[in-house]
Formats: sequence, structure tokens, C-alpha cells
Amino acid sequence: MDAHTAIHQRFSANVFDPDRPVSPEILNQLIDAARQAPSAFNMQQSRFVAVQDLEARRTLRTIAYDQAKVEMAPLVIVVLGDLQSHHSFPEVTEADQAAGIYDQGLADYFVQAVQTGYADPRRAHDEAIRSGSLAAMNLMTEATALGLSTGPMIGFDPIKFKETFDIAEHYLPVIMITVGYPAEGNWPKKTRRSIEQLLVRDARPHQKNTFSA
Ligand SMILES: Cc1cc2nc3c(=O)[nH]c(=O)nc-3n(C[C@H](O)[C@H](O)[C@H](O)COP(=O)(O)O)c2cc1C
Repeated sequence: MDAHTAIHQRFSANVFDPDRPVSPEILNQLIDAARQAPSAFNMQQSRFVAVQDLEARRTLRTIAYDQAKVEMAPLVIVVLGDLQSHHSFPEVTEADQAAGIYDQGLADYFVQAVQTGYADPRRAHDEAIRSGSLAAMNLMTEATALGLSTGPMIGFDPIKFKETFDIAEHYLPVIMITVGYPAEGNWPKKTRRSIEQLLVRDARPHQKNTFSA
């Protein structure tokens, strides 16, 4: 399935086939798709926790305000953002340099910019949400292309999740995604606002538009 079709076919599933597991190969494919998402400076701060065991999913369901799909879906992926990824960022510039993408001068500049800029917790937080969201979207598109369904969720207690699954303080839960093969009873994809409601065409400086005050 091509990306266009997958983007348009994706819908948020509530009902999964609990007896059809997601293979380890497909899990790898999903994370491989997620890690292709862009991130500022290529920081790659998104991390992924796959909850697969039934008892673990039952526990996760209680953390997700008893949303049944968390138990029903054979795979639940929690996307995390590492709020301290600026510390390990030199690993990234070393790899990009080794691949011949840029030189030492630019690497030094990037490291300096990242380690100064993302020492600001607000900036690190916002960037983690942005990057994690982009990664999550890639993952859901890939899943759709592979014939799976997904359910993005923010209805869970992030503090309880971190406590229960023993996640260190500096990881921010960004979104939870249920993954599996769809079963009967799902709603179709929901309607969308019109393009005209969403888009300002040919925006010009200091010119009134739909989104002006
Ligand atoms: C950030 C985010 C959080 C969401 N949280 C939940 C949730 O906790 N429970 C749920 O049933 N659906 C959740 N959804 C799914 C949305 O309700 C769904 O994407 C929306 O209604 C549009 O439907 P569609 O994806 O099928 O087009 C969430 C979606 C997003 C993007």
C-alpha cells in the first residue's frame, strides 16, 4: 500500500482481534518507520515501550482509565521523549560525520546549539512532544500499510505509567498507540473539516486572513 492510501485509510480503532498477535518482525518494521521521522537537529529523542504480555496489558488498561482496547490490542506502544537527549547528542553528530554528511566544524556548531538550547526544560519538553508525535504518525501510517489498525491515545496517567513500568524521570510519555488486526465493530474514519476552513492560501506579510484577530 502506498503512503497516500495508508494516510487516507488510517482510522482510530477501538476493536481489535485479541487472538491475532503482531509478530516481532512487524514490531521492528513499525519502529523502523517511526525512527525515520524527522527531529530537530536529528536529535532522535523518541523512545518506544512495547507492552505485549496480556497481564501487562491488563495492568496498562487500569492506567488508561479502563479503556478496553488496551487489553484487546495484542500490542500497545508507548512513545516516550527523552528530555535529556541533548546530553547524548554528540553520538548523533559522530554518526552523521562518519557517514560523511557534514564536517567537524558543523558538528561542533550543532552540539553547542543543541546542548545550550535544550538545557531549557520547556524547549526540551515541546521538542519531545513534537518529535514523538511525528514518530507516532509514521508508525501509524506504516501499520496501516501493513494491514494493521492503530488507536492513538492520550487517555492514560503518565505518572502511573512511569511508576508501574519503571521508567526514569527524564522520559516524557508522549502518546500511547494500540496496534493489532481490526475486528468487527469499529467506527469508520471520522469526518474532517474542509480544506477551506483549515488553509490560508498565499499568505502575505501584514495582510488580514482567516486566522487574523
Ligand atoms: C493525541 C491523541 C489522543 C487521543 N486519545 C484517545 C484516547 O485516549 N482514547 C480514544 O478512544 N481515542 C483517542 N484518540 C483518537 C481520536 O479520538 C481520533 O483520532 C479522532 O476522533 C479522529 O478519528 P480517526 O482517527 O478515526 O479519524 C486520540 C487521538 C489523538 C491524536
